[in-house]
Amino acid sequence: MALFTYSKLSHLLRLAVHKAPVLRAGADMKPGAVSWLQLKRSQRSVDSKAQQERQKQQMARGLPKQKPIAGVKQVIVVASGKGGVGKSTTAVNLALALMANDQSKSAGLLDVDVYGPSVPRLMNLKGNPELSDDNRMVPLTNYGVPCMSMGFLVEDASPIVWRGLMVMSAVERLLRQVDWGSLDYLVVDMPPGTGDVQLSVTQNIPIAGAVIVSTPQDIALLDAHRGAEMFKKVNVPVLGLVQNMSVFQCPNCQHQTHIFGSDGARQLADTLGISFLGDIPLHLNIREMSDKGQPVVVSCPDSAEVSTLLYSALLYSTLLYSALLYSTLLYSALLYYTLLCSALLYSTLLCSTLLYSTLLCSTLLYSTLLCSTLLCSTLLYYTILCSALLCSTLLCSTLLYSTLLYSALLCSTLLCSTLLYSALLCSTLLYSTLLGSTLLYSTLLYSAHFYPTLLSYIDIM
Ligand SMILES: Nc1ncnc2c1ncn2[C@@H]1O[C@H](COP(=O)(O)OP(=O)(O)OP(=O)(O)O)[C@@H](O)[C@H]1O
Ligand SMILES: [Mg+2]
Repeated sequence: MALFTYSKLSHLLRLAVHKAPVLRAGADMKPGAVSWLQLKRSQRSVDSKAQQERQKQQMARGLPKQKPIAGVKQVIVVASGKGGVGKSTTAVNLALALMANDQSKSAGLLDVDVYGPSVPRLMNLKGNPELSDDNRMVPLTNYGVPCMSMGFLVEDASPIVWRGLMVMSAVERLLRQVDWGSLDYLVVDMPPGTGDVQLSVTQNIPIAGAVIVSTPQDIALLDAHRGAEMFKKVNVPVLGLVQNMSVFQCPNCQHQTHIFGSDGARQLADTLGISFLGDIPLHLNIREMSDKGQPVVVSCPDSAEVSTLLYSALLYSTLLYSALLYSTLLYSALLYYTLLCSALLYSTLLCSTLLYSTLLCSTLLYSTLLCSTLLCSTLLYYTILCSALLCSTLLCSTLLYSTLLYSALLCSTLLCSTLLYSALLCSTLLYSTLLGSTLLYSTLLYSAHFYPTLLSYIDIM
């Protein structure tokens, strides 16, 4: 039976750390030796990375938004394409081993195998979960591990005959409506295959890493391969591969038999470029204790098979840490890039908005000025026109008036003078007539008086 050694662990750790491209990029840089060509190349690779990121973001727009489970720090999924390879057994013991390795850490167990829930049996739990004040289900707890499973919500032997949508809503309830309190790790026991449930879990919650379980025979490895590829596709880091039931040791003669093969999972891990997390033997104890609801990590903590599990758990958490570190670095790089992009976008928008508003303002100002100028000049024009009209009217009327007055005066003067003249004339005429007639009369009178005298004189003469 192959046990883990600390040297293997440190080697795996080194590999995990060297995988982080963010760290490598920093280490590769030699200050002062960067040529123009290198700069150009690195610029091109940054551009293509940015383009890839953009493509990823565009594809992610169609997917549901990942939302963390309230109170849970890290989620580890235990999966495999194949059924019956020991996923649930590994998930249960992994949750217990994570807590056994570090007493300060808390772990929970979520069984999303809706059609065949095994956690109630493996953890020796029964009953319906109670509801918390905010109407969320309170997990059932055994061995210090809070657990939630569809098995708590349906009768033991009743078949679950659900169509896809009902399964999705059940998974959604298990992910969102459980009151986990505060957990360092939530180990999720996946159903076999790479179907709707797996996709739904990976797309709805952020997952720190996936552990793939497989037995060493080809038919199981084929499905494990599919499982690992699925996680890669949905951007979930694969922490590594566990080879379960790798070797059987006869309790009587201690002879070791590789019932399902010896090295299949290790080779697959090499092919996929993922870590090989270790061998768990096919052991009677594991099967018996699991069936009794007493997982080996708590029922036989000092056994050899448990030490493997404990080592594996330690390894998981260490790998998990480096995966988390990597994803944190990646996340902060992404965040930085997103912030930079949004800052650029924002400033561009701001600039164009400012420019636009400046243009708008100046256009408005200009048109206002133009309008007011036009209005003013129109008003001025009208005012001038009006006053001109008024003036000319006044002038005309004044002229008319004065003309009328003048002509009236003239007329009256003429009339008066005519009258006067005619009066004078008349009186003159009258006077002269009178005078004439007087003269005449006096002449006549005189002559009448004088004539006889004259006649007498003439007679005398
Ligand atoms: N290392 C082991 N040694 C002995 N028995 C094991 C070992 N691992 C698992 N078993 C047993 O194998 C059976 C199947 O295991 P388990 O239910 O964990 O598989 P699974 O992959 O979760 O199955 P499913 O795909 O149906 O969910 C169980 O009875 C379990 O006790
Ligand atoms: Mg199972």
